[in-house]
Order: sequence, then C-alpha cells, then structure tokens
Amino acid sequence: MIPGMPGDSQVYLNGEFTRLDEAKISVLDRGFIFGDGIYEVVPVYNRKVFRMDEHLARLARSLKAIRIPAPLEHAGWVALVDQLVIRSEAPTCLIYLQVTRGVAKRDHGFPTEPVTPTLFGMATPYVPPGQAQRERGVSTISIPDERWLHCEIKSVSLLGNVLAKQAAVDAGVEEVLQFRDGFLSEGASANIWVVRNGTLLAPPKNNLILEGIRYGLMAELAQEAGIPFEMRALPRAEVESADEILITSATKEVLAVTQLDGKPVGTGKPGPVFARLRAGYDARIAAL
Ligand code: PDD
Repeated sequence: MIPGMPGDSQVYLNGEFTRLDEAKISVLDRGFIFGDGIYEVVPVYNRKVFRMDEHLARLARSLKAIRIPAPLEHAGWVALVDQLVIRSEAPTCLIYLQVTRGVAKRDHGFPTEPVTPTLFGMATPYVPPGQAQRERGVSTISIPDERWLHCEIKSVSLLGNVLAKQAAVDAGVEEVLQFRDGFLSEGASANIWVVRNGTLLAPPKNNLILEGIRYGLMAELAQEAGIPFEMRALPRAEVESADEILITSATKEVLAVTQLDGKPVGTGKPGPVFARLRAGYDARIAAL
C-alpha cells in the first residue's frame, strides 16, 4: 500500500497496463541503481492534455542528451498519453512518464550489449492551485544552487533538487530560489521570473536551468499582453529588489512569489504583471 496512491490505479510499464501495486521493476534497473533516466510531467485538464507536443519534444531532447534510444515515436507517445488519460480516474491529472536505460549488470559505463529501455507511465490526480493560493502567492527562501552542470536535462537524478526542496520544507516555505555564483537559476522544481519596471525577466536558457514548458508559454503570454520580455543573467540584488517575482511549473502553473527570505516581494501581494499573465494562462486552459 502506497499512501495517497490507490493500488488499483492503472499504470503502464514496458508495454502493458497493470495495477500500480503489481508494477515491478528489476533492482538492477539503471534508473534505480544510477538515476540513469529521464522523465516528464504533463498536466491534463478535464482529460485535455496541455502542451503535449512541447512536452514530447523535451522528452526527445532529454533522451538524446543522455543517449537512450527513443522507445517510442511521436505517435506512440501520444497514444500512450491518451491511454493514461482515458484510464485516469481523475479527469484533471498529471501524466508522469519515465524512461531509464534499462536493466544491466551494475557498471557505470553504458551496457555494451543492447538493452531495452524501461518505460513507465502513470496518471496521478491533480488539483490546480485554487483561489486562496493565487491570492496568497508562494513564500520562498534563497539557497546556493549546488546541483550539477546539466540542469537542462530532465533527469531522474534529482538528489540536488530533492535536497533543495527539503531546505524549503525545513524553513516552512514552499519553494527555494537557487543562486549560482550570485545569479538566479531556478526553483527546486519550477522556473522563476522577475518583474522590474514592467519588464518580465528570466534567466537565460542554458545548462544551468531546466527549460520549463512554461518558458515558451510565458514569452507568448507576455507578448499577447504587451509586456516586454527579456532573458538575461539576473544578479541577486535585482531579484531582491524586484517589483514582482513569479514561479511557473506544470503543477504550480503560474503563481506570484510574495515572500523571499522572510521579506515581502514588492508590495507582498501578487502584482499587476502576475495578474495579466495569470489571466492569459487561464484563457489557454479554458481554450483546450
Ligand atoms: N518540475 N525547473 C525544474 C528543476 C523543474 O523540476 C521543473 C518542473 C521546472 C518547470 O518545468 P515545466 O514548466 O515544464 O513544468 C523547472 C516538474 C513539475 C516535476 O519535477 O514534478
């Protein structure tokens, strides 16, 4: 019995749908042994998948980056996601997809014999942030970014992110803002945005952050709302004196960061740029 997860929910493992409590992988799976794999989290609203193509494109990029042969073609992924959505008890859910290099004798280098990647998929019920959370925003602390130098890969090797998120939990806040060499990178499991003088700012897309699917979306929403948008390195002082800070991810959608290190961000309330981008995001969901 896994708390919060009905054992009879249907998951996909290596070609079959099975009950969650019956899905088993080998202890020699390289995902288990080395964290040698990648994943995706795709939000679904009322059985409609949000930005499927963008998520599948990133999945393909992650696989290529760590040289795992793609187990499915684009149409195969779409069919798998559709099946998981159909079988999900909750119409609004998160589709989790994971691919590892597969099962092999423990050896750090890639297996020399061909191995079949392990492919896992599941749907978990998702409750999007409600009105109270939208009005309250998110409280954060800043911490040094101690992760590796390939954060652009959506890897299941998430120990750095796990420890970063636990720092937030220990401090009684919801997220962290990570800084590397004095510049903003991202949250433990989200991208971070800064608003200064009406301009939306984001750290550059490079190896130091995961390019969230909401990266491209926020650029589109900013353009539609007539909000200037710039990607550039953001020194700590500019983040600390920001008018607004925003956070985005598949699960957080877009929310305001209203507290950083115990101090209010801007007025301490979600600001006007947040409100316009949030309205744009809601319109995209409504249009699904
Ligand atoms: N995390 N940066 C990191 C380190 C993340 O883990 C995530 C998402 C993001 C935002 O990406 P997107 O907009 O595509 O969700 C940025 C997911 C939700 C997770 O690991 O559960």
